[in-house]
Amino acid sequence: MITDVFDSDPSSHTSDHIASVKQLRKVYVKPNSSIAVEALRGVSIDFVRGECVAICGASGSGKSTLMNVLGCLDRPTSGFYFLGGQNVADLDDDGLSAFRGVHLGFVFQNFNLIQQLTVAENVEVPMFYQGVSVADRRAKAMSVIESVGLTDRADHRPNELSGGQQQRVAIARALVNDPILILADEPTGNLDTATGDMILELFDRLRAEGKTIIMVTHEPEVANRCDRIITLRDGLTISDERVAAPAVT
Ligand SMILES: Nc1ncnc2c1ncn2[C@@H]1O[C@H](COP(=O)(O)OP(=O)(O)O)[C@@H](O)[C@H]1O
Ligand SMILES: [Mg+2]
Repeated sequence: MITDVFDSDPSSHTSDHIASVKQLRKVYVKPNSSIAVEALRGVSIDFVRGECVAICGASGSGKSTLMNVLGCLDRPTSGFYFLGGQNVADLDDDGLSAFRGVHLGFVFQNFNLIQQLTVAENVEVPMFYQGVSVADRRAKAMSVIESVGLTDRADHRPNELSGGQQQRVAIARALVNDPILILADEPTGNLDTATGDMILELFDRLRAEGKTIIMVTHEPEVANRCDRIITLRDGLTISDERVAAPAVT
């Protein structure tokens, strides 16, 4: 059963690489057409447990395609993806969605909350698929909601919250299953600078707790707060750099 991969002993994975892609290629072919787009042309990256990685690059460079593969939302045309010791290619489609639900957390630019549900219910959604009891679901949701500072909003609906608050709900939802990886696509893209800073401070805290975060951003100030910046161009990695720690003043 795939949920056992990590329940057993996460440290049994032989390396510190929480996720690795090797020679990843993705070719999109339009139906009924011979036109093919090579969105990824051989990308190899090892992600280290506990690091926060920024994925940068111009529009069309392959960032979303890479995130979709990392998020088990799409499969590569060729190449390998190992996530938490699991060769993702060995999972069938049902296995893949189950794996995604249990081991990955997603944060989107547009928050992607369900408007009909309250904050607490939104945060409970990832637990539905795991047979967690109603009481345990609610207790777990309330504890993550508290960690993002929204306890007093638990019964509100998303449209009653500011953008920054909605993004904190989305982060709580991403955290609730204690995922191997948190994937964030332009998480501050729809927020003003001050609100975006609050979200980045929350990510700083998650990092300090050892969470692994991969974030697409086109903002240099955001990328520079990460541990590592990977830049794509035309489906290839053109740089992969550690961010220097800020000087202590
Ligand atoms: N579903 C798709 N079908 C065909 N081409 C696609 C599809 N998704 C992305 N592409 C193409 O793949 C390339 C990379 O796209 P994408 O990964 O979205 O880049 P980015 O997120 O960096 O802007 C682009 O040329 C884009 O047009
Ligand atoms: Mg994109």
